[in-house]
Amino acid sequence: MNKKIAVIGAGNVGASCALYLAEANFADIVMIDIAEGIPQGKALDLTQAGPVRGYNSRVTGSNDYADIKGADIVVMTAGLARKPGMTREDLLIKNAEIVGMAAENIKKYAPNAFVLVVSNPLDLMTFHMFKVTGFPTHKVFGQAGVLDSIRFRTFIAMELGVAVTDVQAMVLGGHGDTMVPLPRYTTVGGVPIAELIPKERIDAICARTADGGGEIVRLLKTGSAFYAPAAASVDMVKSVFSDEKRVLAASAMLTGQYGIKDIYIGVPVVLGAKGVENILELKLDKNELDALQKSAATYKEHLQVLKY
Ligand code: 2OP
Repeated sequence: MNKKIAVIGAGNVGASCALYLAEANFADIVMIDIAEGIPQGKALDLTQAGPVRGYNSRVTGSNDYADIKGADIVVMTAGLARKPGMTREDLLIKNAEIVGMAAENIKKYAPNAFVLVVSNPLDLMTFHMFKVTGFPTHKVFGQAGVLDSIRFRTFIAMELGVAVTDVQAMVLGGHGDTMVPLPRYTTVGGVPIAELIPKERIDAICARTADGGGEIVRLLKTGSAFYAPAAASVDMVKSVFSDEKRVLAASAMLTGQYGIKDIYIGVPVVLGAKGVENILELKLDKNELDALQKSAATYKEHLQVLKY
Protein backbone atom coordinates (compact mmCIF):
# COMPACT_ATOMS: atom_id res chain seq x y z
CA MET A 1 0.00 0.00 0.00
CA ASN A 2 1.25 3.49 -0.80
CA LYS A 3 2.29 5.78 2.02
CA LYS A 4 -0.30 8.45 2.75
CA ILE A 5 0.27 12.09 3.60
CA ALA A 6 -2.51 14.34 4.83
CA VAL A 7 -2.02 18.06 4.31
CA ILE A 8 -4.35 20.12 6.49
CA GLY A 9 -5.13 23.40 4.77
CA ALA A 10 -5.39 23.91 1.01
CA GLY A 11 -4.21 27.52 1.01
CA ASN A 12 -0.93 28.67 -0.49
CA VAL A 13 1.33 26.71 1.88
CA GLY A 14 -0.82 23.56 1.84
CA ALA A 15 -1.25 23.49 -1.94
CA SER A 16 2.46 24.16 -2.49
CA CYS A 17 3.27 21.30 -0.10
CA ALA A 18 0.91 19.05 -2.05
CA LEU A 19 2.62 20.06 -5.30
CA TYR A 20 6.16 19.35 -4.04
CA LEU A 21 5.00 16.14 -2.37
CA ALA A 22 3.30 14.98 -5.57
CA GLU A 23 6.46 15.69 -7.53
CA ALA A 24 8.50 13.70 -4.98
CA ASN A 25 6.35 10.72 -6.06
CA PHE A 26 6.58 8.80 -2.81
CA ALA A 27 3.07 8.87 -1.37
CA ASP A 28 -0.59 9.56 -1.94
CA ILE A 29 -1.73 12.93 -0.72
CA VAL A 30 -5.04 14.10 0.69
CA MET A 31 -5.63 17.81 1.22
CA ILE A 32 -8.21 18.83 3.82
CA ASP A 33 -9.79 22.26 4.06
CA ILE A 34 -13.03 23.68 5.40
CA ALA A 35 -13.63 25.70 2.20
CA GLU A 36 -15.93 23.63 -0.02
CA GLY A 37 -14.50 22.79 -3.41
CA ILE A 38 -11.04 24.30 -2.80
CA PRO A 39 -9.14 21.15 -1.78
CA GLN A 40 -11.04 19.10 -4.37
CA GLY A 41 -10.36 21.61 -7.14
CA LYS A 42 -6.67 22.02 -6.32
CA ALA A 43 -6.23 18.25 -5.99
CA LEU A 44 -7.79 17.66 -9.41
CA ASP A 45 -5.64 20.39 -10.91
CA LEU A 46 -2.49 18.82 -9.39
CA THR A 47 -3.52 15.39 -10.63
CA GLN A 48 -3.86 16.76 -14.16
CA ALA A 49 -0.32 18.17 -13.97
CA GLY A 50 1.03 14.66 -13.30
CA PRO A 51 1.28 13.47 -16.92
CA VAL A 52 3.67 16.26 -17.89
CA ARG A 53 5.45 16.60 -14.56
CA GLY A 54 6.00 12.84 -14.48
CA TYR A 55 4.34 11.86 -11.22
CA ASN A 56 1.76 9.24 -10.36
CA SER A 57 1.02 10.31 -6.79
CA ARG A 58 -2.72 10.18 -6.14
CA VAL A 59 -3.85 13.61 -4.97
CA THR A 60 -7.34 14.05 -3.51
CA GLY A 61 -9.14 16.83 -1.67
CA SER A 62 -11.80 16.70 1.01
CA ASN A 63 -13.70 18.77 3.55
CA ASP A 64 -13.98 15.79 5.88
CA TYR A 65 -11.27 15.01 8.42
CA ALA A 66 -12.30 11.34 8.28
CA ASP A 67 -10.39 11.19 4.99
CA ILE A 68 -7.05 11.52 6.81
CA LYS A 69 -7.63 7.99 8.13
CA GLY A 70 -4.51 5.89 7.70
CA ALA A 71 -2.21 8.88 7.11
CA ASP A 72 1.42 8.13 7.95
CA ILE A 73 2.21 11.80 8.35
CA VAL A 74 0.05 14.89 8.71
CA VAL A 75 1.38 18.27 7.61
CA MET A 76 -0.50 20.98 9.48
CA THR A 77 -0.57 24.19 7.43
CA ALA A 78 -4.04 25.61 8.14
CA GLY A 79 -4.35 28.93 9.92
CA LEU A 80 -4.39 32.64 9.29
CA ALA A 81 -1.32 34.18 7.68
CA ARG A 82 0.27 37.47 8.69
CA LYS A 83 -0.57 40.77 7.05
CA PRO A 84 1.91 43.69 7.02
CA GLY A 85 2.49 45.07 10.53
CA MET A 86 1.60 41.81 12.30
CA THR A 87 3.93 39.49 14.19
CA ARG A 88 3.39 35.75 14.03
CA GLU A 89 2.36 35.89 17.68
CA ASP A 90 -0.59 38.12 16.74
CA LEU A 91 -2.09 34.97 15.18
CA LEU A 92 -1.90 33.02 18.43
CA ILE A 93 -5.52 32.86 19.63
CA LYS A 94 -7.24 32.29 16.30
CA ASN A 95 -4.71 29.76 15.02
CA ALA A 96 -4.75 27.90 18.33
CA GLU A 97 -8.46 27.22 17.72
CA ILE A 98 -7.74 25.93 14.21
CA VAL A 99 -4.76 23.82 15.30
CA GLY A 100 -6.69 22.52 18.33
CA MET A 101 -9.57 21.34 16.13
CA ALA A 102 -7.17 19.70 13.69
CA ALA A 103 -5.34 18.03 16.57
CA GLU A 104 -8.56 16.47 17.90
CA ASN A 105 -9.28 15.05 14.47
CA ILE A 106 -5.73 13.79 13.94
CA LYS A 107 -5.98 12.02 17.29
CA LYS A 108 -9.28 10.48 16.23
CA TYR A 109 -8.54 9.50 12.63
CA ALA A 110 -4.77 9.16 12.37
CA PRO A 111 -3.61 8.14 15.85
CA ASN A 112 -0.36 6.64 14.57
CA ALA A 113 0.69 9.52 12.35
CA PHE A 114 3.68 11.79 12.64
CA VAL A 115 2.65 15.43 12.72
CA LEU A 116 4.69 18.20 11.13
CA VAL A 117 3.38 21.61 12.18
CA VAL A 118 3.81 24.59 9.84
CA SER A 119 1.04 26.88 11.18
CA ASN A 120 2.14 30.03 13.01
CA PRO A 121 3.20 31.03 15.58
CA LEU A 122 5.15 27.91 14.81
CA ASP A 123 6.76 26.82 18.06
CA LEU A 124 3.62 27.56 20.06
CA MET A 125 1.35 25.74 17.62
CA THR A 126 3.67 22.72 17.69
CA PHE A 127 3.43 22.67 21.49
CA HIS A 128 -0.36 22.97 21.25
CA MET A 129 -0.52 20.11 18.71
CA PHE A 130 1.56 17.93 21.03
CA LYS A 131 -0.66 18.72 24.03
CA VAL A 132 -4.01 18.18 22.28
CA THR A 133 -3.02 15.00 20.42
CA GLY A 134 -1.10 13.59 23.37
CA PHE A 135 1.24 11.97 20.84
CA PRO A 136 4.83 11.27 21.90
CA THR A 137 7.18 14.20 21.39
CA HIS A 138 9.31 12.41 18.80
CA LYS A 139 6.23 12.18 16.56
CA VAL A 140 5.24 15.86 16.74
CA PHE A 141 7.67 18.45 15.42
CA GLY A 142 7.65 21.85 13.75
CA GLN A 143 9.08 23.03 10.49
CA ALA A 144 10.55 26.48 10.71
CA GLY A 145 14.26 25.99 11.44
CA VAL A 146 14.69 24.50 7.99
CA LEU A 147 12.97 27.51 6.44
CA ASP A 148 15.04 30.00 8.43
CA SER A 149 18.23 28.10 7.57
CA ILE A 150 17.50 28.04 3.83
CA ARG A 151 16.78 31.78 3.94
CA PHE A 152 20.13 32.33 5.68
CA ARG A 153 21.87 30.14 3.08
CA THR A 154 20.18 32.04 0.26
CA PHE A 155 21.29 35.45 1.55
CA ILE A 156 24.88 34.23 2.03
CA ALA A 157 24.94 32.79 -1.49
CA MET A 158 23.57 36.10 -2.84
CA GLU A 159 26.26 38.02 -0.92
CA LEU A 160 29.11 35.93 -2.29
CA GLY A 161 27.68 35.10 -5.71
CA VAL A 162 28.13 31.37 -5.09
CA ALA A 163 25.96 28.26 -5.42
CA VAL A 164 23.43 28.13 -2.61
CA THR A 165 23.85 24.35 -2.45
CA ASP A 166 27.45 24.89 -1.28
CA VAL A 167 26.36 26.99 1.71
CA GLN A 168 25.75 25.06 4.93
CA ALA A 169 24.03 26.89 7.77
CA MET A 170 21.85 26.40 10.80
CA VAL A 171 19.37 28.78 12.42
CA LEU A 172 18.10 27.87 15.87
CA GLY A 173 15.55 29.32 18.30
CA GLY A 174 11.92 30.24 17.79
CA HIS A 175 10.49 31.05 14.38
CA GLY A 176 10.17 34.77 15.02
CA ASP A 177 12.15 37.89 15.84
CA THR A 178 14.18 36.00 18.46
CA MET A 179 15.56 33.36 16.10
CA VAL A 180 19.28 32.61 16.41
CA PRO A 181 21.33 32.35 13.19
CA LEU A 182 24.68 30.71 13.91
CA PRO A 183 27.40 32.26 11.70
CA ARG A 184 30.05 30.32 13.64
CA TYR A 185 28.58 27.07 12.31
CA THR A 186 28.11 28.41 8.77
CA THR A 187 30.41 27.40 5.95
CA VAL A 188 30.71 27.89 2.20
CA GLY A 189 32.32 24.89 0.53
CA GLY A 190 33.68 24.00 3.96
CA VAL A 191 35.17 27.47 4.62
CA PRO A 192 33.82 29.33 7.70
CA ILE A 193 31.95 32.49 6.59
CA ALA A 194 33.97 34.68 8.97
CA GLU A 195 36.85 34.18 6.52
CA LEU A 196 34.75 35.26 3.54
CA ILE A 197 32.37 38.00 4.71
CA PRO A 198 33.11 41.01 6.97
CA LYS A 199 31.42 40.99 10.36
CA GLU A 200 29.09 43.91 9.69
CA ARG A 201 27.78 42.18 6.55
CA ILE A 202 27.29 38.92 8.47
CA ASP A 203 25.31 40.87 11.10
CA ALA A 204 23.18 42.43 8.37
CA ILE A 205 22.52 39.02 6.80
CA CYS A 206 21.52 37.60 10.20
CA ALA A 207 19.09 40.49 10.68
CA ARG A 208 17.63 40.01 7.19
CA THR A 209 17.19 36.29 7.94
CA ALA A 210 15.31 37.00 11.17
CA ASP A 211 13.05 39.34 9.18
CA GLY A 212 12.92 36.92 6.22
CA GLY A 213 9.20 36.14 6.52
CA GLY A 214 8.35 39.78 7.27
CA GLU A 215 10.14 40.98 4.15
CA ILE A 216 7.93 38.76 2.02
CA VAL A 217 4.77 39.76 3.91
CA ARG A 218 5.58 43.42 3.18
CA LEU A 219 6.06 42.65 -0.50
CA LEU A 220 2.96 40.47 -0.92
CA LYS A 221 0.77 42.70 1.30
CA THR A 222 -2.04 40.10 1.39
CA GLY A 223 -0.33 37.14 3.06
CA SER A 224 2.94 35.42 3.77
CA ALA A 225 5.51 33.25 2.02
CA PHE A 226 4.61 29.81 0.78
CA TYR A 227 7.07 28.33 -1.72
CA ALA A 228 10.04 28.14 0.66
CA PRO A 229 7.92 27.14 3.70
CA ALA A 230 6.41 24.31 1.65
CA ALA A 231 9.76 23.22 0.21
CA ALA A 232 11.24 23.13 3.72
CA SER A 233 8.32 21.02 4.96
CA VAL A 234 8.69 18.50 2.15
CA ASP A 235 12.41 18.13 2.89
CA MET A 236 11.47 17.11 6.42
CA VAL A 237 8.72 14.70 5.33
CA LYS A 238 11.19 13.04 2.99
CA SER A 239 13.78 12.62 5.72
CA VAL A 240 11.21 10.79 7.85
CA PHE A 241 9.72 8.66 5.06
CA SER A 242 13.06 7.66 3.57
CA ASP A 243 14.72 7.36 6.97
CA GLU A 244 17.41 9.72 5.72
CA LYS A 245 18.48 10.79 9.21
CA ARG A 246 19.11 14.33 7.98
CA VAL A 247 20.46 16.79 10.53
CA LEU A 248 17.99 19.65 10.28
CA ALA A 249 16.85 22.49 12.52
CA ALA A 250 13.34 21.68 13.72
CA SER A 251 11.04 22.76 16.48
CA ALA A 252 11.36 19.96 19.03
CA MET A 253 10.40 19.45 22.65
CA LEU A 254 13.38 20.09 24.88
CA THR A 255 13.89 18.20 28.11
CA GLY A 256 16.88 20.06 29.50
CA GLN A 257 19.07 20.37 26.39
CA TYR A 258 20.65 23.83 26.21
CA GLY A 259 19.34 24.40 29.76
CA ILE A 260 15.77 24.59 28.39
CA LYS A 261 12.84 22.31 29.07
CA ASP A 262 9.10 21.81 28.52
CA ILE A 263 8.96 23.92 25.41
CA TYR A 264 9.16 23.45 21.65
CA ILE A 265 11.95 25.47 20.08
CA GLY A 266 14.22 25.23 17.05
CA VAL A 267 17.27 23.01 17.60
CA PRO A 268 19.31 20.64 15.42
CA VAL A 269 17.67 17.23 15.28
CA VAL A 270 18.18 13.94 13.48
CA LEU A 271 15.01 13.23 11.48
CA GLY A 272 14.44 9.62 10.50
CA ALA A 273 11.86 6.84 10.44
CA LYS A 274 11.13 7.36 14.14
CA GLY A 275 10.62 11.10 13.68
CA VAL A 276 12.87 13.17 15.95
CA GLU A 277 15.45 10.47 16.70
CA ASN A 278 17.95 12.67 18.45
CA ILE A 279 18.44 16.28 19.54
CA LEU A 280 21.98 17.48 18.97
CA GLU A 281 23.57 19.75 21.54
CA LEU A 282 26.01 22.07 19.81
CA LYS A 283 28.70 23.76 21.85
CA LEU A 284 27.27 27.27 21.86
CA ASP A 285 29.25 30.25 23.12
CA LYS A 286 27.73 32.45 25.82
CA ASN A 287 26.06 34.91 23.43
CA GLU A 288 24.53 32.14 21.32
CA LEU A 289 23.27 30.24 24.35
CA ASP A 290 21.86 33.42 25.91
CA ALA A 291 20.03 34.19 22.67
CA LEU A 292 18.56 30.68 22.47
CA GLN A 293 17.45 30.74 26.10
CA LYS A 294 15.96 34.22 25.64
CA SER A 295 14.03 32.98 22.62
CA ALA A 296 12.68 30.03 24.65
CA ALA A 297 11.73 32.32 27.55
CA THR A 298 9.72 34.54 25.18
CA TYR A 299 7.71 31.57 23.96
CA LYS A 300 7.15 30.30 27.51
CA GLU A 301 5.46 33.61 28.25
CA HIS A 302 3.26 33.32 25.17
CA LEU A 303 2.23 29.80 26.18
CA GLN A 304 0.57 31.26 29.27
CA VAL A 305 -1.93 32.95 26.95
CA LEU A 306 -2.97 29.43 25.92
CA LYS A 307 -3.19 28.52 29.63
CA TYR A 308 -0.28 26.07 29.56
C1 2OP B 1 7.46 32.65 7.04
O1 2OP B 1 8.41 32.90 7.77
C2 2OP B 1 5.07 31.96 6.86
O2 2OP B 1 6.22 31.97 8.92
C3 2OP B 1 6.35 31.80 7.57
O3 2OP B 1 7.42 33.04 5.87
